[in-house]
Amino acid sequence: MNQKLKHNIILIGFMGSGKTSAGMWLAERLTYQFKDSDQLIEKKAGDTINHIFAVYGEEYFRNMETDLIKDLIPTLNNSVISTGGGLPIREQNAKLLKELGYVVFLKATKQTTVDRLQGDATRPLLQGEDLEKKVERMLEIRTPIYEKAAHKTITTDGRSIQEVAELIMESYMKQIY
Ligand code: S3P
Repeated sequence: MNQKLKHNIILIGFMGSGKTSAGMWLAERLTYQFKDSDQLIEKKAGDTINHIFAVYGEEYFRNMETDLIKDLIPTLNNSVISTGGGLPIREQNAKLLKELGYVVFLKATKQTTVDRLQGDATRPLLQGEDLEKKVERMLEIRTPIYEKAAHKTITTDGRSIQEVAELIMESYMKQIY
């Protein structure tokens, strides 16, 4: 049993990796609260992620993510939190996440990711031409960072949301009991 680990599960991974869907399912199974960093930011700002990016820029949004994690560390318990895909890319955030609880990276191949994100208009970083190239480039940079930031990596390709959630739960239980 890891006595230092806070009783929270933090899901990280690329856009479309299933963090929100698996997270909601998992929270219900564990009777934990479910939180989503993008939703918390939108609520606090009274604005959408798309609009925040367009008006204030990415750096401003990244600062909001850092502030949010800092606010959650002393207060959050018995929760599953799904994080925006870029949140752990800041080294400071990656460190803070491990203070918040058990960090799980939901990994998906380029093809799975592209299939899931085709036609999506809600992610400012993926708008415009050639989704496949963008995803490929970003996955190349981000995958090693996600792996390093996580306690555990779970592959999601070909797995249902429930299967992914069960795998997360199994590995989390081993940590806390
Ligand atoms: C981002 C991922 C998005 C959102 C924003 C930036 C990223 O969250 O935070 O559009 O940099 O990968 P999801 O991963 O929940 O789509």
